[in-house]
Amino acid sequence: MSYPFQITSPEAYHQAVQKSIQDPEAFWAEIASTFLWKKRWDKVLDWNFTEPKIEWFKGGTLNITENCIDRHLGQSGNKPAIIWESNDPDEHHRVLTYRDLYNKVVQFANVLKNNGVKKGDRVCLYMGMVPELAIATLACARIGAVHSVIFGGFSAQSIADRLQDAQAGFIVTCDGAFRGNKEIPLKSVIDDALVQCKFVQRVIVLTRTRTPISMLKGRDVWWEDEIKKVETMGNPDCPAEEMNAEDPLFILYTSGSTGKPKGVVHTIGGYMVYTTYSFVNVFQYQPGDVHFCTADIGWITGHSYIVYGPLCAGATTLIFEGVPTWPDAGRFWDVVDKFKVNILYTAPTAIRSLMGFGNDPLIGKDLSSLKVLGSVGEPINEEAWHWFNEKIGKKNCPIVDTWWQTETGGIMISNLAGITASKPSFATLPLPGIQPILVDENGKEIEGNDVSGNLCIKFPWPGILRTTYGDHERCRVNYFATYENLYFTGDGCYRDGDGNYRITGRVDDVLNVSGHRIGTAEVENAINMHAGVVESAVVGYPHDIKGQGIYAFVIFENTHDDEKLTKLDIIQTVSRVIGAIAKPDKIQFVTGLPKTRSGKIMRRILRKIAEDELGSLGDTSTLLDPDVVADIISGKL
Ligand code: WTA
Repeated sequence: MSYPFQITSPEAYHQAVQKSIQDPEAFWAEIASTFLWKKRWDKVLDWNFTEPKIEWFKGGTLNITENCIDRHLGQSGNKPAIIWESNDPDEHHRVLTYRDLYNKVVQFANVLKNNGVKKGDRVCLYMGMVPELAIATLACARIGAVHSVIFGGFSAQSIADRLQDAQAGFIVTCDGAFRGNKEIPLKSVIDDALVQCKFVQRVIVLTRTRTPISMLKGRDVWWEDEIKKVETMGNPDCPAEEMNAEDPLFILYTSGSTGKPKGVVHTIGGYMVYTTYSFVNVFQYQPGDVHFCTADIGWITGHSYIVYGPLCAGATTLIFEGVPTWPDAGRFWDVVDKFKVNILYTAPTAIRSLMGFGNDPLIGKDLSSLKVLGSVGEPINEEAWHWFNEKIGKKNCPIVDTWWQTETGGIMISNLAGITASKPSFATLPLPGIQPILVDENGKEIEGNDVSGNLCIKFPWPGILRTTYGDHERCRVNYFATYENLYFTGDGCYRDGDGNYRITGRVDDVLNVSGHRIGTAEVENAINMHAGVVESAVVGYPHDIKGQGIYAFVIFENTHDDEKLTKLDIIQTVSRVIGAIAKPDKIQFVTGLPKTRSGKIMRRILRKIAEDELGSLGDTSTLLDPDVVADIISGKL
C-alpha cells in the first residue's frame, strides 16, 4: 500500500499547509477519499465552536475495521499486522498476519454478539498488553459497539466511576496481567468494581496469568469457551456494521482541572482519517517498516498509534507486554534488535529512566534497523533528547517530538521525520490542517515570533473530540468557553523566531506525571477521603525521571500514629480511590494552607515552595494568615 497523501519534501509540506488553510474541506476530502467508505459523505464539514458542534464527513457511512483490516487482505493478507512480545523474554513471541487478525476479530465480534452486545452499547476493556486487547477493540468497532479502554493501573473505584458514567453493561478483562516482575490481578479488581455496578451483565475473561479468580455464574464467562462456541457454529462471518461517520468509536477517560475524569468521545470517520494521515506523515512510514509504540493501549497514544493509525495504514505494529527495565534496562533494545524495529515511539520519562542506567544495557544490541525515533506525552528536556539522538539513533534517526492530547485524537504539532527540521525540546511545526494560535489571558491573539502564550486551535481538524460523554456542557465549558471561538488546549507555549512551537506545560491544574495526566483536584479529593485529613492541596514539582512529581500539603487532625505510617496510609487511600499512578511522591503535614480572604487556596505560592523557588513567592500580604507561609517553608521536604 502506498499513501497518496504522504508528504515527501519540505516544499510539499508547505504546499499542504497552504491548501489546508485556504480550502480545508477540499484538503481533507481528498485525503478521506483514499479510504474505504460504504457511502460517500454529503458534506465534508459542519461546525461551530460555540455549542460546540463538529461534524466531519457528514452523511458518509463506513466501518473502520474494513479500513484497518479487510482492505489489506487482498495484497497484504500474509503481512504481519501485529507482532507481540511477551513480558517474559523466554516466552515465544506471536505474529498475527492481517488474515489472522481478520479471523480473530470476526470471531470475537461474534462472541460479543452472542453475549448480547449490540450496536451503540458501551464495552469496557480492562486488560493487559496482549494482542487480544487490540482484537477486542476492533471487534467492538466491527459491530458498532463503543469501547472504553481503562488502563490497568486504575483502581476498582476508578473503574466503577467510569462504568457508571458510560453505563457500560459489558466488560472484557483478563485473569491477570504481567508487568515486569509484578502480576496485576485484573479480574479481582473488576470484581471489586462490580460490587457497585449491578447493571453489568457480562464479563468476558481471557486467560493470561492463570491466577485463581472468582467466576460468577450467569455473569462471568471465559474468553476461550466463548471462542469455542463460535467455532462450533462453523466460524460464521461477521459483516462489518454500516456506521455513520459521526457515530462514536470510543470513549476514553482523561483528567481535567476539576471534577472526575471526563469521557472524551471520538467518532469514527474523522478519527480514522486523522490518525492515519498523521501516522504516515509524522513517522514517514514506509511499507514493510516495523513500528514500535511503547505506550499502553489504555492511553490515547496506544489507541491512535498502536491500533488504529498503523493498522489503517496496513503497517506492522508491535505490542510489548512488559516494561523497559525488566528483566533489565536493556529490554527495549532487545526488542528493537529482535524484531528489527524501524520506528520507535516512546515517552521522555522512559528515556530519562533508561538514561540513568548508563551505556552498559546498550552493549551488544544491534539498533541499526532504527530509522525514526519519536517522543510523546510531556516536554522532552534537551539532555534526554541528545541521549536519545546519540545513543539510540546514533545521530542517524530524525526524532519527532509530537505534541497532542487525548482530545485531539492524533498528533497536532511535530516535525515530519526527515522532511521538516527538528529542534531539541521543540515540537516545531503544526501538521497540515492544524491552525494553532497563541493568546493572552483575555483571549487576544499574540502575533509574531519569539512570543509566549496560551495555546489554542482556531479551526477544527477531523480528529478533534466531539463531546464529553453524557455531558456536552462540560465539553463546552472545558475546551470552548475559555476563549471565544477557539479550542483551548490547557497548555502554555512559546513560539521562536522561526515559528517553531515549544510546549512549556499545562497552565491549568493538571499534572503530567510520567506522561500521565492527573488532575490536582482529583488527588486532593482522594486524600481528603482519608480519615483524619482536614484539608489538602496538591501541586506538581520538577522530578528528574517523572517530569513532574506530586507534592501534597495536608492538614491532618490527629496523630495517634507516627507521621511516616500516616503518610503511607494516605498513599494507600489514594491508590484505592484512583490507582497507584496518582500516589503522592511527597506529603508534608501543615497546620494551615495559604488562603485568600475569600478562602481560595493560593496554589501559586505552594507551587513555588514545592519547586524550591522561594525567591519568587510574590506578594503574600493579601493572605488571610501570612504566617502560614513561613511555617510551610520551614517544614518543606
Ligand atoms: C502534554 C498524550 C510537551 C501536554 C498524547 C498535553 C506534551 C498533555 C507533548 C496531553 C509534547 C503531550 N511536548 N508536552 N510532545 N505531548 N504533552 O491527553 O501538556 O495524555 O496537554 O495525551 O500532555 O496528555 P494526554
